[in-house]
Amino acid sequence: MIRARIIGCGAFLPDNVVTNDDLAKRVDTSDAWIQERTGIRQRYIAKEGQNTSDLALGAARAALTDAGIDAGEIDFVIVATTTPDRSFPSVATMVQSRLGMSHGAAFDVQAVCSGFIYGLSLADSLIRTGQARTILLIGAETMSRLLDWSDRATCVLFGDGAGAVVLQAHDGKGDNSDQGILNTRIYSDGRLHDLLYTDGGVSLSRSAGLLRMQGKEVFKHAVTNIAAAIEASAAAAGIPISAVDWFVPHQANQRILDGTARRLGIDPARVVSTVASHGNTSAASVPLALVTAVKDGRIKRGNLVLLEAMGAGFTWGACLLRW
Ligand code: ACO
Repeated sequence: MIRARIIGCGAFLPDNVVTNDDLAKRVDTSDAWIQERTGIRQRYIAKEGQNTSDLALGAARAALTDAGIDAGEIDFVIVATTTPDRSFPSVATMVQSRLGMSHGAAFDVQAVCSGFIYGLSLADSLIRTGQARTILLIGAETMSRLLDWSDRATCVLFGDGAGAVVLQAHDGKGDNSDQGILNTRIYSDGRLHDLLYTDGGVSLSRSAGLLRMQGKEVFKHAVTNIAAAIEASAAAAGIPISAVDWFVPHQANQRILDGTARRLGIDPARVVSTVASHGNTSAASVPLALVTAVKDGRIKRGNLVLLEAMGAGFTWGACLLRW
């Protein structure tokens, strides 16, 4: 059986760090409030002129170096993003060209904070059906460009960044001992689209609009949906949740991470958290957290790793893999 294995990963963050105290100079908030309600201490914000494709390219180059391959081997470039440089062409085609590629195919996936999990699901299918051997999957965002910097309830939550993985086809036995993606589960419920959205868009207003959110409602759905996705992914593999070595969640809010762990009886020490330093980077948050835990040596070859996310739409999902 063909398995999609992650053979390299990399991240890229803008230089510009914005602390909670920096934000308290712009809106009526405080470091204490932000830390207590969200766990966030700082976020990275791209400077004017530094766009999503720049962050995506940085993460892509780091992942290719880590994988020890060059762009010539890539069949597909997929970018999960909600904040493309332009309405078109896609960020993925910009990355493709800047990597010097004129072969293969490149396109974006838009599922907001779940975009990277949706991308993994798609990449896994493309590899297992033999349509691709090697895929570069990137989650990249400049969420700062969608924020209303006068709305303290949302502008403190988000940040910019990018993370990338290189997936490659490898033979497996078809059981849980295989290295690579074991399963993915993706879901959406469009009835809930008005709890988290932008108040504009190309067709609606000829502009991107600004992010609007009913935070309390989003919070409630997040814990329920993420827990259900984790349970579904573990059940599909026929393993108890306790068999998973590392959980790599979407980094929205430390309280969502803690609430989900409590609900499922997961030891918080097995949950990778980067929300304090990155904030919520939407589709970039799962790969940024993954890269952090791989590079600091927590995630080791052979570990069972469960990635999960939930975002606007609502969209949510999980991916179980053996590293
Ligand atoms: N600083 C100080 N006070 C604030 C701030 C701020 N930055 N933001 C809101 N407040 C105030 C509110 O105005 C309110 O004041 P009031 O009582 O005088 O009316 C008070 O704090 C409480 O506001 P709530 O919205 O009830 O605060 P809550 O405890 O729900 O925390 C938060 C808000 C952090 C947004 C929380 O609801 C949350 O994290 N929700 C999840 C949303 C999320 O993570 N979205 C990301 C995208 S979706 C995803 O990624 C899963």
